[in-house]
Amino acid sequence: MAMSNAPLGVGLIGTGYMGKCHALAWNAVRAVFGDVARPRLEMLCETSDAYASARAAEFGFARATGDWRTLVSDPAVDVVSITTPNQFHAEMATAALEAGKHVWCEKPMAPAFADALAMNAAAEGSGRVAILGYNYIQNPAFREIARLVSEGAIGTPFQIRAEMDEDFMADPDTPFFWKNAASSGYGALDDFAVHPLSLIQRLFGRVERVFCDMAMPYATRTDEAGGQRAVETHDMANMLMRLEGGVQASLQVNRCAWGRKGRIALQIFGSKGAILFDQERMNEVELYRAEGDARQQGFARVLTGPQHPPYDRFVPAPGHGLGFNDLKVVECRELLHAIAGEPATVISFAEGIELERTVHAAARSFESGRWVEVAAVGG
Ligand SMILES: NC(=O)c1ccc[n+]([C@@H]2O[C@H](COP(=O)([O-])OP(=O)(O)OC[C@H]3O[C@@H](n4cnc5c(N)ncnc54)[C@H](O)[C@@H]3O)[C@@H](O)[C@H]2O)c1
Repeated sequence: MAMSNAPLGVGLIGTGYMGKCHALAWNAVRAVFGDVARPRLEMLCETSDAYASARAAEFGFARATGDWRTLVSDPAVDVVSITTPNQFHAEMATAALEAGKHVWCEKPMAPAFADALAMNAAAEGSGRVAILGYNYIQNPAFREIARLVSEGAIGTPFQIRAEMDEDFMADPDTPFFWKNAASSGYGALDDFAVHPLSLIQRLFGRVERVFCDMAMPYATRTDEAGGQRAVETHDMANMLMRLEGGVQASLQVNRCAWGRKGRIALQIFGSKGAILFDQERMNEVELYRAEGDARQQGFARVLTGPQHPPYDRFVPAPGHGLGFNDLKVVECRELLHAIAGEPATVISFAEGIELERTVHAAARSFESGRWVEVAAVGG
């Protein structure tokens, strides 16, 4: 098998939910795919030297630092994983790119559109690869959906309905944390909506115009001192959209949806059939073909397996299923291919800008109570 990449030195900033996910991916990517060189886990950064050292020992990184600037300027680091809260992405990504590093940054790019544009400009000026953590496009089930749509399995697609729901903020007693602060962005729009938007944009192109309503179910949450602190972000949003090419789209997102644990549901309706998907059952695609004996028509439930690449790289048997963390291993491999100058399924900063532009257009629509042309969000 051709080895496409020279070994790269990895720097990881942040070790929370996503930081661990990136660390697992960097550790696994060579073993799973075989066609990339084993990365060198050079340096890990956390909020203190001691915490960074402890996490580096767990995750297998050679060195640790409590100062992210030390990490992004280290000569042995070639690529930087940025998994810190949203408000740090722009400064960290821009500094890493200016230091000549490739960047794998978690979504969203940045709360302010100007900062996202600056990140993209830094990427373009650097000649380095800069991609975003839109892991759901890496699901073999989603790749199968894209194939079905492009090969006309449901005829002409007319409408896509998407939902993203979780309940990690549904409890009013959940204390205030960084996702409740305006410094993280609008709330469910840039925390959640960007994910299904990445799927919609991949399938049907950019959003041309949007109408959006947002809501804040809880006005206050408990702060560290036991008092009440005003919530600054909206946990729920509804969006109506028109896509380039004419497909009609809607998206509902909710971080306070009791009972929903990891729902990213898609319904795609076309002239000859329909496709259903839900991330809570991420190894299944449901396909309805309007053909044959009407008495036999119904949704076929297809379980992913080795015939849906790159499932085969993880497990040779169908129906056993991949998990969320596996999507990051796929994303990591795609990043390594992009760095090697090979074709890769990634959402670059340049493509990510269009997702951010849509989110900001949606926020403008909420403020004005009107439809907004996405292209009107400048830059
Ligand atoms: N792609 C996905 O599916 C997905 C899922 C969840 C979160 N995210 C994104 O990942 C990012 C992080 O979210 P999370 O849920 O992992 O957050 P988290 O709070 O679990 O982890 C953030 C980590 O960053 C560390 N950190 C904060 N400031 C730092 C600094 N200055 N230097 C070094 N480390 C610092 C924190 O100590 C913490 O360990 C967010 O941008 C979020 O939108 C993406």
